[in-house]
Amino acid sequence: MGKIALTGDRPTGKLHLGHLVGSLNNRLNLQNDKSFDEIYIMLADGQGLTDNFNNPKKIRDNIIQVTLDYLSIGLDPNRVTIFVQSALPALTELTFYYMNLVTVPRLERNPTVKSEMELRGFNSGDEGLPVGFFTYPISQAADITAFDANVVPVGEDQKPMLEQCREIVHKFNTIYGETLVMPEIMLPKNEKATRLKGLDGVEKMSKSLNNCIYISEPSDSLNKKVMSMYTDKNHIKPTDPGNVEGNAVFNFLDILCEDRHFNDYLNDYKNLDEMKEHYKKGGLGDVKCKKFLYAILEEKISKYRDERNKWENNLSDVYDILETGTKKAIAKSNATYARVKKAMYMDYFDDKNKIVEEWKTILENK
Ligand code: TRP
Repeated sequence: MGKIALTGDRPTGKLHLGHLVGSLNNRLNLQNDKSFDEIYIMLADGQGLTDNFNNPKKIRDNIIQVTLDYLSIGLDPNRVTIFVQSALPALTELTFYYMNLVTVPRLERNPTVKSEMELRGFNSGDEGLPVGFFTYPISQAADITAFDANVVPVGEDQKPMLEQCREIVHKFNTIYGETLVMPEIMLPKNEKATRLKGLDGVEKMSKSLNNCIYISEPSDSLNKKVMSMYTDKNHIKPTDPGNVEGNAVFNFLDILCEDRHFNDYLNDYKNLDEMKEHYKKGGLGDVKCKKFLYAILEEKISKYRDERNKWENNLSDVYDILETGTKKAIAKSNATYARVKKAMYMDYFDDKNKIVEEWKTILENK
């Protein structure tokens, strides 16, 4: 069996820099280092509906947004297969049978489910907990196993999903025989990258907290956002000593800045350490820091914007990319489902002669 990677995103909004440094860059590396035979990237619209079932239009509209985000950062449809989850019947069918292998208390213990329940107020109130949402880790196990994925590149927050999936694989293979591939998680290599904060410098970058810079951010709003970032509230005059910890600008610079940026945009310093020293001592104003950060971000994002523009003017090709990817994904997941049905003694209509012979034996033995 080759090396296969699968990962995905819920299409609930445009992707932001948190996604870029936390997972998209990782995918680009996988794509570019060519050590994988197959890479699948899923638009998890079905999973997105588990907490947006009353707003299906939002999910639909974000299919194109997220696809354009993928293409604009350089994911190459010739090397990765991008597809739409809901078009794959095998995924829901696998989920149905995997449900037998997971207990309610086990799902209740899943830390990601727990914290997401809290976030969405599913613990309290009249609405209660939708079964679809509660069981989404099982459907995520179907996503992963349907592709025989041995590697799942995701962020730290998805660790409990992978553990749950591995348990399902183990249980399935123990009961029905070796059928499913055991997946491994692949976390971002750059530890720091998982800690990109929002504009507030406190919370993780997240759409619901309204503290994001988007991959498709226009230049003028990028500038406004950078200028509005929280720094150090005690750093009032440039001459004041400043704090780089908990400072959104330095959090971004820590993750995004390279030495060459100083040569290109701020040649007062050779590297970030020098710049930080000056800021801490006093004498370096926030505006200068923000202008530097803006230059770095604008260099990056302007490339994405240009690329996105090309695809926006060529939506027919984008459609073809999604359709081709989805067809390939349907074939792949159907093949796995056929294997699962066989393992679970549900291959009733694959071979008439064989089944009729089997029925005869059963009846003779009575
Ligand atoms: N749960 C993932 C997220 O919220 C999206 C996702 C769905 C996924 N199915 C997956 C990720 C399978 C990796 C593998 O971002």
